[in-house]
Amino acid sequence: MNINYNEETKIFQINTQNTTYMMGILAGKHLLHLYYGKKIDYMEDMDCRYLFRKDESPKSLHSLKRAAVTFFNTYPFEYPAHGTGDCRHNCLRVRSEGGHRVCELHYDSHRIYKGKPSLKGMPATFEGATEEQAAETLEITMKDAVLGLKILLRYSVFEDSDAMIRSVVAVNEGEGKLYLEKILSAGLDMDNMEYELTTLHGVETRERRMVTRKVTEGSHRVASLYGETSHKQHPFMMLTGKGTTQKHGDAYGMHFVYSGNFAAETELNHQDSIRMTMGINPDGFEWVLAPGEEFETPEAVLVYSSEGIGKMTRCYHDLYRNHLIRSKYLHKKRPILINNWEGTYFNFDDDKLVAIAKEAKKVGIEMLVMDDGWFGKRDNDESGLGDWVVNKKKLKNGIEGLAERVNAEGMKFGIWFEPEMISPDSDLFRAHPDWAIQVPGREITMQRHQYVLDMTRQDVRDYIYESMAKILRSANIEYVKWDMNRPLADIGSFCLDSEHMGEFYHRYVLGVYELQERLVQEFPDLLLENCSGGGGRFDPGMLYYSPQIWTSDNMDPIERLAIQEGTALIYPLSTMGAHICVCPNHTTGRSTPLETRAHVAMTGTFGYELDITKLTEEEKAQAAAFNEEYHKYNEIYREGDYYRIASYRENNIYDCWQVVTKDKAECLVTYVQVRYISRTKSVRLLLEGLEPKAKYRLEGTEEIYSGELLMNAGYLQDMIFGEYGSRLLHFVRV
Ligand code: GLA
Repeated sequence: MNINYNEETKIFQINTQNTTYMMGILAGKHLLHLYYGKKIDYMEDMDCRYLFRKDESPKSLHSLKRAAVTFFNTYPFEYPAHGTGDCRHNCLRVRSEGGHRVCELHYDSHRIYKGKPSLKGMPATFEGATEEQAAETLEITMKDAVLGLKILLRYSVFEDSDAMIRSVVAVNEGEGKLYLEKILSAGLDMDNMEYELTTLHGVETRERRMVTRKVTEGSHRVASLYGETSHKQHPFMMLTGKGTTQKHGDAYGMHFVYSGNFAAETELNHQDSIRMTMGINPDGFEWVLAPGEEFETPEAVLVYSSEGIGKMTRCYHDLYRNHLIRSKYLHKKRPILINNWEGTYFNFDDDKLVAIAKEAKKVGIEMLVMDDGWFGKRDNDESGLGDWVVNKKKLKNGIEGLAERVNAEGMKFGIWFEPEMISPDSDLFRAHPDWAIQVPGREITMQRHQYVLDMTRQDVRDYIYESMAKILRSANIEYVKWDMNRPLADIGSFCLDSEHMGEFYHRYVLGVYELQERLVQEFPDLLLENCSGGGGRFDPGMLYYSPQIWTSDNMDPIERLAIQEGTALIYPLSTMGAHICVCPNHTTGRSTPLETRAHVAMTGTFGYELDITKLTEEEKAQAAAFNEEYHKYNEIYREGDYYRIASYRENNIYDCWQVVTKDKAECLVTYVQVRYISRTKSVRLLLEGLEPKAKYRLEGTEEIYSGELLMNAGYLQDMIFGEYGSRLLHFVRV
């Protein structure tokens, strides 16, 4: 049993393999957070009530009454609510019909059960098929009798993971309406231990770069109001103890399984304690709960590691691979694809694409993906979105004809859609101007010449679904890239009344989830890749529908180092869309060796984004060799354990990461050297995760090293003369 409740002490204990989480009920009603950290296994007759920092003697309870506001404002509440004196940032704010915003949650009951609930219409982690992947859940019922509000706090853990999944349900059991102004998925109060906070930041073409700073007094908040997770900030926070490294020390991660507006906040308060919270961004949010109705929050994933950041990372990777991604492609080698976007942009036709497919096939590429521009009137980004009918000027025999020709070359075929968008210059907009998100009387704010469709509407969703499905049913299309190229603005729907307009953002996300769910249900064999102007909607929510997401439009391998490092901090490598780009790179103008571009892309899903007919014979021969390497190594990248060995971000010279098979029989080490440092002969790469007493041979050489040698003395990598060189080292146990 991983979850226990001690009747006498009124303390809950949730255990995973290596962690313990404790909370307890004080004075029969207040649910306080007591501990989260390294596993406390021996509990037999331990009385942990001292952790309350308050006892239940009459004197103590009297002082609680005498200074209740102070009590609310200083104690570590498990799910703090606004209104009775806790003036730190909180998890819940509810308005009553009377306009009051006071809520006091009292413990009511709890239940512990095998398994784990799914969420209605939203992504959720799930139990695996085996016993080791089984889950157990604690559901604590809290109530505010005055409001008639019931709050369920849910905590689930899996046998095979150190992660803890949290979500919250609000139920209106009263007579009047309740207005949820803020309902977060998780809060965590801890004593300050001089922590540092790491979050992920960026912009289009520079997504998810790690930023670390000391936690100081006040609040640090990362959030999105873009209607999607966004390129700019990511729904992830990590607290690390003083001196924590990849291998040592405390790391607490909190990640959000959601694809819309979020808010993640870390506050160091007057008590010198830290409160971390994660949930739907309360800005621009309000949900009306009529009597009898309920609201479910998305899931937050908490991970604690006492053995450094690397272990936290691997816990997220395994959790998402074993308990979140559903696609049948999860454990499969994805076809090596060639996408025509940077190769042709809008300037292509069927003959051009077939020529690319023919040439690609020769070097071992397996799938052609036709990107933006195949539909409606779409010769640039100024028109056509929403008109999902084939452009016969470009594809003379339609999608079906093209798919047949591409298949005849021995290649699979995939296409691009941007389902959530509508161009003002489109037949769809001319027929349904009210389908665009807008506020009556205001000009719609334009971005990339496009508006956003009102995905809260069933009629809009049905239309979009049917237009996409019609195309997918008409031809042998084995892959779809689902793009989303602008943020939401001008929030307004003709189908929501003023009372419910605050529900728009969340309903939009639910609409996207519904569409993607329909797609994967009707086309279970489809390989779906999500995308948003690069990596603007790279989040765990999307992984529930697609096993891979386009990481960034920036494919410059040097720029990709920080992007992929930040992404791989929490996401399995198998989810990172990565391609070999054109040279010089279209985003940065930088020229890099084809080999370096390949080594960086091979870590992810692997493919090409260039016009292969323009490569030299020598480059094509190189590409053929990389494709063979991909087949040989992909399983290691896809299924293995990831270790961050060195970071260019920190050392300003080189980047290095390692992936080890679960049985420790093989590992791959990727070394990318950005700068050559004269007079330094070699760098020492301290590998990890190997069997200490086993011997490993470096492929292509007679060099033999013990695991211990590689992990303690390290592998000495010679400096590569010149710029942007790379090496891919493969060690095999002998
Ligand atoms: C976005 C995507 C690109 C490409 C273009 C097409 O920017 O990230 O990969 O598909 O749209 O317009």
